[in-house]
Amino acid sequence: MSLDHLFSPTQLGDLNLPNRLVMAPLTRQRSLPGNVPGELNALYYAQRANAGLIISEASQVCPQGQGYAWTPGIHSAEQVAGWRQVTQAVHEAGGRVFLQLWHVGRISHPLLQPGGADPVAPSAIQANAECYVVEADGSHHKAATAKPRALELHELPGIVAAYAQGTANAIQAGFDGVEVHAANGYLLDQFLCSNSNQRSDAYGGSVENRARLVLQVVDAVVATVGDSRKVGIRISPMGTFGDVHDANPLETFSYLVEQLNSRQLGYLHVNRPDWLGGTFEGYDALLRKLRQLYQGTLIIAGGQTAESGEQAIAEGLADLVGYGRPYIANPDLAARFQAGAELNPLNPATLYGGGAEGYTDYPALG
Ligand SMILES: Cc1cc2nc3c(=O)[nH]c(=O)nc-3n(C[C@H](O)[C@H](O)[C@H](O)COP(=O)(O)O)c2cc1C
Repeated sequence: MSLDHLFSPTQLGDLNLPNRLVMAPLTRQRSLPGNVPGELNALYYAQRANAGLIISEASQVCPQGQGYAWTPGIHSAEQVAGWRQVTQAVHEAGGRVFLQLWHVGRISHPLLQPGGADPVAPSAIQANAECYVVEADGSHHKAATAKPRALELHELPGIVAAYAQGTANAIQAGFDGVEVHAANGYLLDQFLCSNSNQRSDAYGGSVENRARLVLQVVDAVVATVGDSRKVGIRISPMGTFGDVHDANPLETFSYLVEQLNSRQLGYLHVNRPDWLGGTFEGYDALLRKLRQLYQGTLIIAGGQTAESGEQAIAEGLADLVGYGRPYIANPDLAARFQAGAELNPLNPATLYGGGAEGYTDYPALG
């Protein structure tokens, strides 16, 4: 099968992308103390600079936004300096890279929170989900997420400000843009979805209210960057990861996407809900509806192959295609697709945490 569409160049704002492959954001829990990226992370990303665009692993915009051990932050000077090594390495290897801005909301635990506080969320509803903690004695393990406290109305401007500061830091660190993480059951998705948001103020109830925080974050991020095309957003309609559920995803996400049209962002990135298994009846119809509604560049991700990505672009369903697990196991994914070569198998044991093994040692062709 020809892959002419997947390997046709395109523009993203001022960036020239040599192909339509996107390395999807992938949490790997390999930061240095202080949640600082280092040389190993720089090597990992540089190895994958063949993607048209790399989106970094999710990076907490403030200490409260962390839900797993060793995930990188974008709120301290040391983290900015660490990320600068990454962006320089990617640029030297000929790539382009956005940073994914993250606040986990209720997917956390006092052991990860400043001062051992409870995590925060739109409402005080505990998620049936796991996070990953480090104990005081250094031992580490998965843990059930804690019951969060509901954010007070007066705290929400501070959340928006943390995204803006994370954005300023990302640009200072040399990123080509940022992606607002509004997917996968984290804070912004918790506000969007009806089962995790039971607020009775201007941020809960109607879809306009549930979408208010994410749109305020997007507007603050765009204002900080000064160029809306350097800003993307990721959503996961119908996703259940993190124990979120929306009673009417078609209504919720159609409204959000219509509101995003006027922002003229670099892209909208839609993640399939079934990447962990399971089936979601009606998802394909929903995606097609969002494609019709959205007037800008669309990235789709989740279970894509070279062939399915090619077909999606050819039929106008997507402009770019995100690959997650294939990029973990195949640093040279673009070359492999072009050669029709076999892909390396993924080692599930080395996804999260650890060092170079299962991170920078997956072999490239030849
Ligand atoms: C190890 C791992 C870590 C992930 N971390 C993130 C993340 O930080 N941010 C995010 O938006 N999605 C994350 N995802 C979801 C991926 O970006 C992607 O959407 C998903 O893996 C489906 O694509 P795939 O079938 O090509 O792997 C993660 C997935 C995996 C497997």
